[in-house]
Amino acid sequence: MRVAALLTLLGAPLAAQEIAVAPLPPGSVSRDEGLAAMARIHEVLTSPRCANCHVDDGNLPMWSGPSYGPEPRPHGMNVTAGDSRMGAETLPCATCHMADNSPLPHGPPGAPGWRLAPVEMLWFDQSIAEVCAQIGDPDRNGDRSVLQVAEHVAEDDLVHWGWAPGPGRDPAPYSAEELVSFLLRWDAAGGPCPAG
Ligand code: HEC
Ligand code: HEC
Repeated sequence: MRVAALLTLLGAPLAAQEIAVAPLPPGSVSRDEGLAAMARIHEVLTSPRCANCHVDDGNLPMWSGPSYGPEPRPHGMNVTAGDSRMGAETLPCATCHMADNSPLPHGPPGAPGWRLAPVEMLWFDQSIAEVCAQIGDPDRNGDRSVLQVAEHVAEDDLVHWGWAPGPGRDPAPYSAEELVSFLLRWDAAGGPCPAG
């Protein structure tokens, strides 16, 4: 935020539009509306542009979504992220993934700090109940309140990449701004999760 403000002062164009994160009064959203918001949150987080990095302890980034063919598969070229989740043990992600997208279809997508999400933030192939339990659990969400999860969505470069993924790739559904609003609505409803 501060850097963005400075860039504005300097007259430079902003990299991304700033997204306001203003919490709603607790209890102002019904349980049913909260559950509906969580269904949309799940739709975004398990979409290919997000879930391909939010994978399990096999440490394999995934290639899924229409531009990668009919079936999800692990990243080509034998890429493995290792326990470091950034390829430090073998070939670092940054060897190919730059700060910006390659302009070529099937060229490496890019954003600063390209790496897999920590293993406890697993979303690939997870149900609404599973994602719901994880996102509200500080032990598994990077020790964040739901408000801080929303702030991460508002500010993070890897998240924003999901809506500007480079040529040929479908962006994540909705928008970063809408995801922030779903999270705030879910929080104001008390963070309800579906059974199962
Ligand atoms: C290039 C890999 C990558 C992609 C693509 C990616 N993420 Fe992540 N994500 C990460 C990493 C790394 C972290 C850990 C950052 C941290 O905790 O500071 C993370 C953490 C998060 C968190 C905080 C985790 C939590 O449980 O609260 C949220 C929210 C998030 N990502 C949302 C998204 C969304 C939404 C998308 C798609 C629009 C997305 N991410 C796409 C790598 C990625
Ligand atoms: C040898 C080059 C290379 C290395 C190293 C590499 N990647 Fe990739 N990656 C690519 C290319 C090229 C694509 C896009 C392929 C396409 O669009 O058909 C890609 C795509 C991806 C995608 C899919 C993004 C999407 O569209 O949803 C993820 C996730 C990913 N890489 C993660 C990683 C991670 C994490 C690392 C480090 C552990 C890594 N990659 C290392 C070349 C590489």
